[in-house]
Amino acid sequence: MLLSTLLALAPLALAKFEGGVPQSFINTAIARTIELGGSTHVVTTQYNVKALVDNPETYVLALGKEGDEPPAWYEVLVAGQPVQDVVTDNVEGAPAALVPIGKMKKDGTVTISLNEIVAKSSRPVPAEIEQRAPQYIMWETNSTLVDSVYTSDVERIKIRAPTPEIIGQGKVPKTYTRDSDLTKSGATITLGPFYSVPPTLGKDAKGEQSPFWVHYETKVPIAGIRSLRRSAEVSHWGANLNIQDEIELFNNGPRLKGQFSRLNHQQSRFWASKPAQVLSELVMRLPPLARSVYYYDVIGNVSTSHFREGVARKGRTTESQLEFRPRYPLLGGWNYTFTVGWDSPLSESLKAEQDGKYVLSVPFLTPLKDVVVDDEELRIILPEGATDVQVYTPFPVDEIDHAVHKTYLDTTGRPVVTLKKHLVTENHAQPVYVTYNYSRAALFKKPLTVAAFCGSILLLFILLRRVDYSIEKKKRE
Ligand SMILES: *[C@@H]1O[C@H](CO)[C@@H](O)[C@H](O)[C@H]1NC(C)=O
Ligand SMILES: *[C@@H]1O[C@H](CO)[C@@H](O)[C@H](O)[C@H]1NC(C)=O
Ligand SMILES: *[C@@H]1O[C@H](CO)[C@@H](O)[C@H](O)[C@H]1NC(C)=O
Ligand SMILES: *[C@@H]1O[C@H](CO)[C@@H](O)[C@H](O)[C@H]1NC(C)=O
Repeated sequence: MLLSTLLALAPLALAKFEGGVPQSFINTAIARTIELGGSTHVVTTQYNVKALVDNPETYVLALGKEGDEPPAWYEVLVAGQPVQDVVTDNVEGAPAALVPIGKMKKDGTVTISLNEIVAKSSRPVPAEIEQRAPQYIMWETNSTLVDSVYTSDVERIKIRAPTPEIIGQGKVPKTYTRDSDLTKSGATITLGPFYSVPPTLGKDAKGEQSPFWVHYETKVPIAGIRSLRRSAEVSHWGANLNIQDEIELFNNGPRLKGQFSRLNHQQSRFWASKPAQVLSELVMRLPPLARSVYYYDVIGNVSTSHFREGVARKGRTTESQLEFRPRYPLLGGWNYTFTVGWDSPLSESLKAEQDGKYVLSVPFLTPLKDVVVDDEELRIILPEGATDVQVYTPFPVDEIDHAVHKTYLDTTGRPVVTLKKHLVTENHAQPVYVTYNYSRAALFKKPLTVAAFCGSILLLFILLRRVDYSIEKKKRE
């Protein structure tokens, strides 16, 4: 059952649009909401779509303007159901998702939802502030309107900042029929509604697209991870899965102007709100049965952390929590490198199928809210003797490498799968599946090797004793 769902994740052949995208749809309404954050921004867009022809097959969902990068993460739902076999492509020079739409008659309608996480589109402005000064973010996009290869009857965009402290924003193009350009209410900016917006992309593009920006305050520190190296090591013999993360954390907020005042920082504990740019704590949500948790840095063990086992939510034990504090508070631009790790029962992540075949599930990462990982490397270390290793990822990764890793007391070595991905968000915290064959003979190989090793040591010891003994004898003679 599990294997068949895994196979469904394989991408389909690409549909190509050589002579331009046919105008087989019209967007009857588009509503977009942009939730601005610190380093990631969550964009949700609903498209009410009408078919202009019979059986249009594929809806081309633009993910940006010509030359734009695709979002760090996205998913597409058709009529409320997630679509697995969406293909990311480049259509008319812009990133786009090719969405299979199923059987549809002319004038038939359907709702398509796009959920995106956008990263690397904001920065602190000013780039340098004093220790107690407020922290402002500049978010920028190349597209004020929602990009589409189809005509849109009506569209509206809402942008929500984390605080009502919005100190500036861009202008909207004057070319469209509209009820209003821009209205601001508290922390929300509304653009439009705009009417009869022509396609902004492709051969029929007549829509004027322009950049937009919002400059706003955020009161929480902006954490980033420059590199995450996770290793997941399976032990059938110990019935254990060990996960270890080497993390290069940094504060992506504005740099500190002048000297860091520890006194000022200590006093801030008594203020109603903590200074925004000081990153002093993070909470990691670990599996509910995590145990033997460790946390150390270059200096050694870090004791300023709390581990709370089996935290219950709504009456169910869903997770354990590691609240950890870096050894020193991190100010804008500062780095902190550390290692955390834990064990969990293998039965939680390994399922045995028939004939010695196993399916292992390894979480790609432990999510941290509003944190982007620039580069991740995940190493999955399988037991010695595992064969027919196959990997299934829930999203495309940049690199998958198979190798064999040999350590002390290994005979044939352990298969190791290494996955690499650039730009990882909290929504990538999904399981990676690895299937492999592992026989009983392989399971007993390890203890036999160890036994053989111990046996040979013993033998050596006995031999040495004998030699010794004979020398002693000689001396005495
Ligand atoms: C906006 O356009 C510029 C120039 O084409 C490009 O370098 C940049 O990556 C674009 N921004 C995004 C968020 O894609
Ligand atoms: C670090 O902590 C772990 C568990 O708390 C302990 O077993 C280990 O000996 C400590 N290491 C050092 C260097 O203090
Ligand atoms: C943090 O690390 C980055 C990249 O390694 C480096 O360029 C930067 O200077 C470091 N910052 C500090 C304050 O050491
Ligand atoms: C691995 O398992 C599959 C299915 O159980 C089986 O068909 C295959 O022959 C096995 N391969 C080896 C090398 O044991």
